Amino acid sequence: MLSGGDELWFRDASFYEVPVRSFFDSNDDGIGDFNGLTMKLDYIKSIGMDCIWLLPFYKSPLKDDGYDISDYYSILPDYGTVEDFERFVSEAHARGIRVIADLVLNHVSDQNEWFKEARSSRDNPKRDWFVWSDDPDKYKDVRIIFIDSETSNWAWDPVSKQYYWHRFYSHQPDLNYDNPEVREEMMNVIRYWLDKGLDGFRCDAVPYLFEREGTSCENLPETHQYFKEIRKMIDREYPGCILLAEANQWPADAKAYFGNQDEFHMNFNFPLMPRVFIALAEEDAFPIVNIIKQTLPIPEKCDWGLFLRNHDELTLEMVTDEERDLMFREYAKLPKMRLNLGIRRRLAPLVDNDRYVLELLHALIMSLPGSPIFYYGDEINMGDNVYLGDRNGVRTPMQWSYDRNAGFSRADSEALFSPVITNPNYHYESFNVDSMSRLPTSFLNWFRRMIVVRKQNSQVLGRGSIRFLKSEDKQILAYIREYQEQRMLCVFNLGRKPGFTRLDLSEFNGWHLRETISSVRFPDIGELPYFFTMPRHSYFWMIMEAPNGT
Ligand code: BGC
Repeated sequence: MLSGGDELWFRDASFYEVPVRSFFDSNDDGIGDFNGLTMKLDYIKSIGMDCIWLLPFYKSPLKDDGYDISDYYSILPDYGTVEDFERFVSEAHARGIRVIADLVLNHVSDQNEWFKEARSSRDNPKRDWFVWSDDPDKYKDVRIIFIDSETSNWAWDPVSKQYYWHRFYSHQPDLNYDNPEVREEMMNVIRYWLDKGLDGFRCDAVPYLFEREGTSCENLPETHQYFKEIRKMIDREYPGCILLAEANQWPADAKAYFGNQDEFHMNFNFPLMPRVFIALAEEDAFPIVNIIKQTLPIPEKCDWGLFLRNHDELTLEMVTDEERDLMFREYAKLPKMRLNLGIRRRLAPLVDNDRYVLELLHALIMSLPGSPIFYYGDEINMGDNVYLGDRNGVRTPMQWSYDRNAGFSRADSEALFSPVITNPNYHYESFNVDSMSRLPTSFLNWFRRMIVVRKQNSQVLGRGSIRFLKSEDKQILAYIREYQEQRMLCVFNLGRKPGFTRLDLSEFNGWHLRETISSVRFPDIGELPYFFTMPRHSYFWMIMEAPNGT
């Protein structure tokens, strides 16, 4: 754990999601590794990231990109050794960067020794570590998550001749959390990796740990109770470490994972994410205002993780059918772009690489309440490849330069774990860290500047309250963030056309407005409504300064 600092560090932090496999290959075998990641820490520092979230790096047959763990206590040999991992964490800490990692609690790989033992015979001591049944109609009210590949949450085990329960792929049997040994073993896994220096976990698939007949088997009280036990242990033994929940749920159920500040420190704001894209498509601020109101307030020592994209499909499970249709129509015109109930595309291609829109979306998630979590490569507007299977099209090698293999690896191109992006509109020869760093006007350099501004205002943006302002034009979204004496006014035009609005700021009569990036001072606020004209897809972040200079 990175020592010192505020226990609420995560509220002011920017997070960077990184798959070890895709980031940098240090030993020329075509696969990213921990030593490669260590070599690129200065880059991660240069874009202002405070915390790295590592995707699963444990031993795995990689049938679900590492979310199918075969040994929780070892590292996938392709990625390096435990020593490489420890060196990476300590080098990150030396740069003031924290590291959290994925923790997959719900299920294991069917190649895990625990499952191999469990299926070997019905009286094996590990049998009860998994959920078995003779009746595949048990828990029949439970939805299927991977609808494109699974038809049931039960899979037949021909060895022991019973069905086992799985919420994801059938090669990922769910653990049985009713068994105290399982609960204890996972506490050991947590301790093992925290002892190796991690600053916390992104907890995978949290709603599904327990099963109860007659329910959806999601968000059960027993599941919350177990996470509270984990939290208690962490507070006691590893204070300062955090738990970030992946709970893709409707707002009330998602909020419940904060508990009474005694469960998760953070939770992804899944309800917000699709509604940002809906607001953009409909040129209407309402979906954002409405969902932010539903997802607040939350306990003071907790925070939302705000994201636009991640390593999965852009999930549309928790939206209405009409909203999902709109999203597919607008953002996934080809069937290949869809997966399960979602869209398997990266951010830049989702919005046709429109620089205005990309800036607008980033300015939004950097200024709404919560901590922004960025997906590797989105800062260089990386493209995707929907012709690769599953979600692999958004997990291609990071693009470092216009050299061979985008500078990711010196292996022969055929040896790469995945092809690099060569589509002419997103070709790595232009979209790479080296070229974009040298171009002052590039998106990457804009991103760096915005992160600096966000850091300069990290308290008001990280911890401040939000107040929405009435705008006469529905495509204009305006809010004030407030923290103690600090105030920031944020205004966005979500429309494809220019727009204008008059905001009632009369309670701030006499205050000054200063645009944050340029420091340009705007006309002072008066009694009359304050007038904004805005080009299409544009934004303002304005510092509000009281007349007496506070
Ligand atoms: C992860 C996915 C994974 C699934 C099953 C999800 O929540 O983000 O990538 O496939 O869990 O482990």
